[in-house]
Amino acid sequence: MKENQVDRRQFIRTMGILPIVSSAMIMSLCTSGCSDDDNPTSPLTGEKVTVLLDNEPTLANNGGFIRRSFGANMNGNRPVIVVRTSQDKFRAMSSYCPHEGGTIGVPSGNKAVCPNHGAEFGLSEGNFAQNIGGQSSASAQTFTVTYNSTAKSITIEF
Ligand code: FES
Repeated sequence: MKENQVDRRQFIRTMGILPIVSSAMIMSLCTSGCSDDDNPTSPLTGEKVTVLLDNEPTLANNGGFIRRSFGANMNGNRPVIVVRTSQDKFRAMSSYCPHEGGTIGVPSGNKAVCPNHGAEFGLSEGNFAQNIGGQSSASAQTFTVTYNSTAKSITIEF
């Protein structure tokens, strides 16, 4: 065999090892970069929570809000911010700050601020959950809200 020829057995051995090495590299990347702590979104469970509006006077008017935890499987037990953005529209967002995982605070003046580094998130229909000022950040996670005007209730899907 010439010096620069590849030995057939050696070639097959190398090709067999390559996928194993690649898989190990991908797994090590995910253990350091794909953990839940780094993921700004909560895994969607499909669970639904219905809120009766008669029990929530702060949601009676446009711009009104509640900030509440609905349980461990719903947004990881972190508070959810629910805002009435118009007479017949409600929106919900996670309080998990996508910047570095802080907890977004109580809404004030059509925005909510993360106290860790000051990221500001809009709470109006046109900018809901978007980063509108302060620390640059991705948008906060949102959840689908269905309004039932007959039952006077909203249902949030996590
Ligand atoms: S963690 Fe929220 S602004 Fe940095």
